[in-house]
Amino acid sequence: MSGDARKTAEGLSYLSGFGNEHSSEAVPGALPEGRNSPQRAPLGLYAEQLSGTAFTEPRALNRRSWLYRIRPSAAHPAFSRADNGLVRSAPFTETVPDPNRLRWNPLPEPAPGTDFLAGLWTLGGNGDATQRTGMAVHVYHANASMHRVFSDADGELLIVPERGGLLLRTEFGLLHVEPAEVALIPRGVRFRVELLDDSARGYVCENYGAPFRLPDLGPIGANGLANARDFRAPVAAYEDVQGPVEVVNKFCGNLWSAMYDHSPLDVVAWHGNHVPYVYDLRRFNVIGTISYDHPDPSIFTVLTSPSDTPGLAGVDFVVFAPRWLVGEDTFRPPYFHRNVMSEYMGLVEGAYDAKAEGFVPGGGSLHNMMSAHGPDRDTFDRASAAELAPRKIDDGLAFMFETRWPVTLTAHATRADHLQRGYDEVWQALERHFRPLH
Ligand SMILES: [Fe+2]
Repeated sequence: MSGDARKTAEGLSYLSGFGNEHSSEAVPGALPEGRNSPQRAPLGLYAEQLSGTAFTEPRALNRRSWLYRIRPSAAHPAFSRADNGLVRSAPFTETVPDPNRLRWNPLPEPAPGTDFLAGLWTLGGNGDATQRTGMAVHVYHANASMHRVFSDADGELLIVPERGGLLLRTEFGLLHVEPAEVALIPRGVRFRVELLDDSARGYVCENYGAPFRLPDLGPIGANGLANARDFRAPVAAYEDVQGPVEVVNKFCGNLWSAMYDHSPLDVVAWHGNHVPYVYDLRRFNVIGTISYDHPDPSIFTVLTSPSDTPGLAGVDFVVFAPRWLVGEDTFRPPYFHRNVMSEYMGLVEGAYDAKAEGFVPGGGSLHNMMSAHGPDRDTFDRASAAELAPRKIDDGLAFMFETRWPVTLTAHATRADHLQRGYDEVWQALERHFRPLH
């Protein structure tokens, strides 16, 4: 099944920046010089453009790649509806939006032979996939490699592994992603997920809106947060496979399947900027206070999907990476707050500094618009009395999908056995400390 892909380098090149051109060829001479679509593409390949933005979007935002492939993508039979499994899409109408604070344990062990796609479990989301707005939160638990190929016309997929490494065989080449790294598969790019361990578990943000990009840095300056040079693109690698290959396409909320007579992962060379990538969250340059208080968690934004309103993201991907806390006369854990944005949090490893227990790797919490949250009793008591010496937080890696609209749950998320009952209790024990002076 792997074809020539195994013969190509698994090394990764560095993206030098979003919006820039990148290129790779698995066979010397496969990439045409000087034009995108010559009369005859090199080596008998077909030239094909894959557009991730409208043709006419501004140059700085435009995403497209040129693929030089053994067969054009158009060479495929009709798609037929396939079982959606536990994948759901926006608009989310199975339940009404819930103002309660909610938290889940990790997904249970799946049945043997569950691949990434079969193991995908939608928690909820917002917007409308057909309008290219909003996002969905999925989690996955798989114990088998995919033999089929998947692509998502509805949005890009930000994959956040929590347990088990993944080898993503994409049209653009191979991406190896481990826990503490993230991978992004752009809208429409076909790929297959192979497991590098016995099982794999993690999170997926499906972004229906504008492609994720690096946030602007404003007064921070030219460097900091996630640096462009740390995003790695694949080296071109292709499969020259004849024979039946199932290709599953997610389109406007439903899965569709077609049996190709060849592998569509047959791109021999490519150039462009609509490209999959991986990023190591441990390379995030964390910026915080060196005096007092702490900045809003937006300072931890890795990637943002902007909306039409400046500063208002459709979804932000935010990481709580190891960092020093040095604020003087400061309550150092995340503060109590209510937020017009809605927050889904997950944990890749260790612990999160606002919760003493109950928030576990592979689990997740949802604090929808204006729901009140913050540290639990134990964390509040400890942080209020702590000696404020400089302290390193290096025992956890949490992240957040923060979105402008409430996350409406799927029916199966509201009745799951792994939904924690009584999450509100973590805040019930907070004591009254008010002592009027007179
Ligand atoms: Fe929050």
